[in-house]
Amino acid sequence: MLRNDLLAGRSILITGAGTGLGRAMALRCAELGAGVFLVARREAPLEETAREIRARGGRAAWATADVRDFAAVERAVARAAEEFETPDSLVNNAAGNFLARTERLSPNAFAAIVGIVLQGSFHCTLALARRWIEAGHSGNILNIVTTYAATGSPFVIPSAAAKSGVLAMTRSLAVEWARYRIRVNAIAPGPFPTEGAWSRLVPSAAAEQEWLAQHPMRRFGRPEELADLAAFLLSDRADYINGECVTIDGGASACAPGGFRHLLDAPVEFWEQLEEQRRRRP
Ligand code: HXC
Ligand code: NAP
Repeated sequence: MLRNDLLAGRSILITGAGTGLGRAMALRCAELGAGVFLVARREAPLEETAREIRARGGRAAWATADVRDFAAVERAVARAAEEFETPDSLVNNAAGNFLARTERLSPNAFAAIVGIVLQGSFHCTLALARRWIEAGHSGNILNIVTTYAATGSPFVIPSAAAKSGVLAMTRSLAVEWARYRIRVNAIAPGPFPTEGAWSRLVPSAAAEQEWLAQHPMRRFGRPEELADLAAFLLSDRADYINGECVTIDGGASACAPGGFRHLLDAPVEFWEQLEEQRRRRP
């Protein structure tokens, strides 16, 4: 469906691009001709992803940064500008999340997730958009939210609050910055099995099977399906799509809200097992 030169001449900064969905988007955008600049905290996954992209003939570079730290984000954007030119697009994909009973959360746990998801997305948005506006360049922002950004969800309160904020920012900035030819859109994925998400949100094979059994298509998403949607939304073919949030969940939230309602009746042993798993994780 997508032509091989769809993103030729483009340069895209993707956060959280060393793993999971960010990695899949980076590989696909590079395959379609874009130079990709990868940002996250850990060096090894970024380096490996960049190596893979180059091995396939693509252009990739990376810098480590914690998106909660605006100065670090600014440094990463400056590095990106040295490697390519100032990226013309941004994918706010970096995130943190975990399943927890809210009354057990510490204030710092809430701050960690909101810091990564909401403030981190704002930091990257500000760092790039200021440069675009000052230079009179157009720009493109794609925010990865979740289906429960629109509905809320129990047991992931910091993530739900932060993703709702990112969704509000998507729609608000799409209007405020249309005059600068900066498009701002979002993708709301349903469940996609990635190591990062599954290790924190799906504590056992039984929990996975239960979730799957409730899915109308009886399957989870494939990262390449999300990557194709992202590439399209970032491309000039989507130039009139602005302020939109596209759901990609196989219909999981069409009649019932997404999220973790199915855990409302989970026995206390479920939560104790989850907390025990967390204690044992290195
Ligand atoms: C309760 C927890 C916790 C947990 C950490 N904390 N894990 N609280 N349950 N499972 C608390 C800590 O005790 C600490 O509070 C505070 O959170 C910060 O923890 P740190 O480990 O110091 O933070 P940090 O090193 O910044 O790590 C951030 C993180 C971690 C979010 C906690 O999980 C991470 O790095 N995640 C990145 C990847 C990720 O989460 N991917 C999943 C994305 S899936 P105190 O008070 O003790 O200091 C997704 C949507 C999926 O977003 C939707 C599916 C439908
Ligand atoms: P993932 O592999 O854990 O991706 C999260 C990425 O964010 C990691 O690469 C991580 O790298 C990076 N990151 C975390 N904290 C960071 C920080 N402070 N600064 C910079 N980078 C940071 O999980 P995923 O499933 O691919 O998730 C990708 C996106 O999809 C997220 O926005 C998530 O909310 C969304 N999503 C996923 C699902 C799903 O089912 N998988 C569903 C809905 C939405 P480092 O640890 O190296 O920093």
